[in-house]
Amino acid sequence: MVGVVIMFAGALFGYDQGVISGALEGIKEEFDLSTTLVEVITSWVTLGALFGALLAGLLAERIGRRRTIIVAAALFCVGAMLEAFAPGTAVLVVGRFTVGFGVGVASVAAPLYAAEMAPANLRGRFVSIYQLAITIGIFLAYIVDQALANSDSWRVMLGVSAVPALLLVVAVWPMTDTARWLVKMGRRDEAATALHRIQPDADPNEKIAEIDESLDADADQATWGEVFGKAMRKPLIIGVGLAVFQQITGINAIIYYADQIFGFAGFSTPQDQAAATTWAIGAVNVLATFIAVVYVDRFGRKPLLLAGLVGMGLSLFVVGCCFLRLDENAGAGETMSGIFTLVALVVFIASFAFSLGPIVWTIINEIFPNRVRGRAVAIATAANWGSAWLVTQFFLTLVDRIGEPATFWLFAGFSALAFVFISRLVPETRGKTLEEIESMWTPANQRTA
Ligand code: BGC
Repeated sequence: MVGVVIMFAGALFGYDQGVISGALEGIKEEFDLSTTLVEVITSWVTLGALFGALLAGLLAERIGRRRTIIVAAALFCVGAMLEAFAPGTAVLVVGRFTVGFGVGVASVAAPLYAAEMAPANLRGRFVSIYQLAITIGIFLAYIVDQALANSDSWRVMLGVSAVPALLLVVAVWPMTDTARWLVKMGRRDEAATALHRIQPDADPNEKIAEIDESLDADADQATWGEVFGKAMRKPLIIGVGLAVFQQITGINAIIYYADQIFGFAGFSTPQDQAAATTWAIGAVNVLATFIAVVYVDRFGRKPLLLAGLVGMGLSLFVVGCCFLRLDENAGAGETMSGIFTLVALVVFIASFAFSLGPIVWTIINEIFPNRVRGRAVAIATAANWGSAWLVTQFFLTLVDRIGEPATFWLFAGFSALAFVFISRLVPETRGKTLEEIESMWTPANQRTA
């Protein structure tokens, strides 16, 4: 059941990210939008998510993990309804922000719930399942978009995300909160019952004693001063750097504006655009994520990250060149460049999905010492949403101002920078215990780490 909760939460998150690609055309027709307003409608999900993620930790402490997930799902429903019935753009933008807020809250609360509920040997698996579920959600959104393409049904596309939100509520409702939170709140009897339900063979009192011990250790949480202090500077730079590079190399410009990009590249009907988006972006994203799930512990983080960045950088460079040709001979030879663009985007998505997509989150969750992890992960997550917002807010404007070729070359340039950043600064963490990773940041080891 914990697996089901995390699947639904991830899928919802993905659905809300992917769906806008197919909905934009209809929204533009109905409301006659400027480029900036298109960007606002697209990007305010990420802005909402930024605030949601910042608030989620507090909420999860106050009202518990389970109820926080229910709040997130309720926000999704309200936001989806606002979007579906929006009489004008103002309500639509509020709806987008509300949905995004739910996405942000869920993006923190669901993995937290799973990590605390899962037995230790399944914990790593749940992080991967979450990323996989996000990609499945994006894929499902593209399928819905494709099924409804050209039928002027953007309201249905957006409204449908209320369905998985309701399913999420149904899935979490009968569950208990995590034993860890219940112990923290002094509700020890309920904690014992919760533990008994997950691991009927284990002795709940022993487990509660373990929780007590680790809560004592955590009580000594680092202050914000320490989080930003000298000792944590290197892991913080690595965590925030990875979070930012994951976004400024362009992933969400492509996820959100896929249909438009295929439109620029010569796929002229909405059906053709939607089909290219569903299969070239959506399906490939899911499949390549499997590679990371299988190989991340075998090949290690760093080789996969670097290999992925080579693929991303080269394919973005090629996409830029294709657009240059498309610009030069508008009309003639469109199909060849269009097909090259499609192939290059497939390579880009596949390279992202087995590298920066899942592995950035793996590293962010393992490089910080226990005492600073909560706060440091929150900073990295906020940096990730903040840069996602920047990219989606300004992508179309950038295309207007400097053209598609230069925009994609800019993303390619950031991929090259990310390559240098990772090869010089990020240590390999495969197979290391969290304690070993922690010891990398002690002053004596700083230079070699
Ligand atoms: C990123 C999202 C992105 C998704 C695509 C995630 O790791 O954080 O911003 O949309 O991958 O699959």
